[in-house]
Amino acid sequence: MEVLVTGGMGYIGSHTVVELVEANYEVIIVDSLINSSTDVIKRIKEITNKEIIFYNVDLLNKEYLSHVFSQHSIEAVIHFAGHKLAEESVSLPLKYYKNNLISTINLCEVMEENSVYNFIFGSSASVYGTPEKLPLDESCTTEALDPYGKTKLMSEEILLDLSRSNPKWKIALLRFFNPVGVHEGGLIGENPNGIPNNLLTYINKVATGELKKLKVFGGDYPTDDGTGVRDYIHVVDLAKSHLKVLEKINHLDQVEIFNLGRGCGYSVLQVIKTFEKITGVKIPFEIVDRRPGDVAICYADPEKSNKILGWKAKKDLDEICRDTFEWQLNIHKEKLTNKI
Ligand code: WQD
Repeated sequence: MEVLVTGGMGYIGSHTVVELVEANYEVIIVDSLINSSTDVIKRIKEITNKEIIFYNVDLLNKEYLSHVFSQHSIEAVIHFAGHKLAEESVSLPLKYYKNNLISTINLCEVMEENSVYNFIFGSSASVYGTPEKLPLDESCTTEALDPYGKTKLMSEEILLDLSRSNPKWKIALLRFFNPVGVHEGGLIGENPNGIPNNLLTYINKVATGELKKLKVFGGDYPTDDGTGVRDYIHVVDLAKSHLKVLEKINHLDQVEIFNLGRGCGYSVLQVIKTFEKITGVKIPFEIVDRRPGDVAICYADPEKSNKILGWKAKKDLDEICRDTFEWQLNIHKEKLTNKI
């Protein structure tokens, strides 16, 4: 079965492609390479020992996307491509609305033109905004707080309307909590350019000495230790959920929403302590003001995903800390070697 993966060279996309290829799906990646590199394809090939079809396509280019569909017998689409920095989206809203919404619309149009109706959308827990209750289940109120989260919510709405227009559509909206971790062999992972936004990436860069000190955003949240609480889910667990959705999509309701998290929250200080315990490296930090737009606590009720998909996140925070650190050390070594 041929599956098209948009953003397949990105962080969640590349890990999902590995799982799909290993499960014998024929994967076609489309990616604009705006936030990834062709290096990733070599690494995916190295891990899976298989050839991967890749098109360097920006989804805003509908013509080229149509050409890709004409070359294959695509049966399902997994859509990850999109800008993803919540903070950046506040200062550059049009960049986010234009890219994330038009690309989703173009993709759906081309799918419809080619009678492809199975769609898995990579959404985000940020659609919930400030949680109405905890843990968050799929029926909780949505109210995204920043343009990034709003593009996810609006895309979900577009897909819902589309499903109402034609019963052939089968749509899964997957709301990711905080994806972290890297693939076991340390060949693929996340390595953003510049100063990282995400907690685990930042901690790792402090651990390797690239950055001096972690700033903990807020010490006065209504949590046990005053720092923000999140549901960190290993990216490989997350990737595997897509296989379950693909297997079951024809037996699910026309549109299904799934929360993909572990169902337990860790505070920033708990993450630091776990990282120090696992790696033996001290993480200097200071508590600073809250980061605008952050919520105090966010974690999933993954029961629906567990039950209906038969999927459960297995890897814990210890494993997450262990393999992200190994990955970061590898990158750091590469950088040092390149310097010499
Ligand atoms: C986790 C916790 C921070 C960094 C993420 C992405 C966002 C989006 C949704 C994309 C919070 C604290 C962090 C630091 C800190 N989408 N923190 N110091 O906020 O849940 O949002 O998911 O894919 O782009 O960022 O995750 O890892 O940024 O923060 O104290 O330097 O760590 O305040 O409590 P978040 P995060």
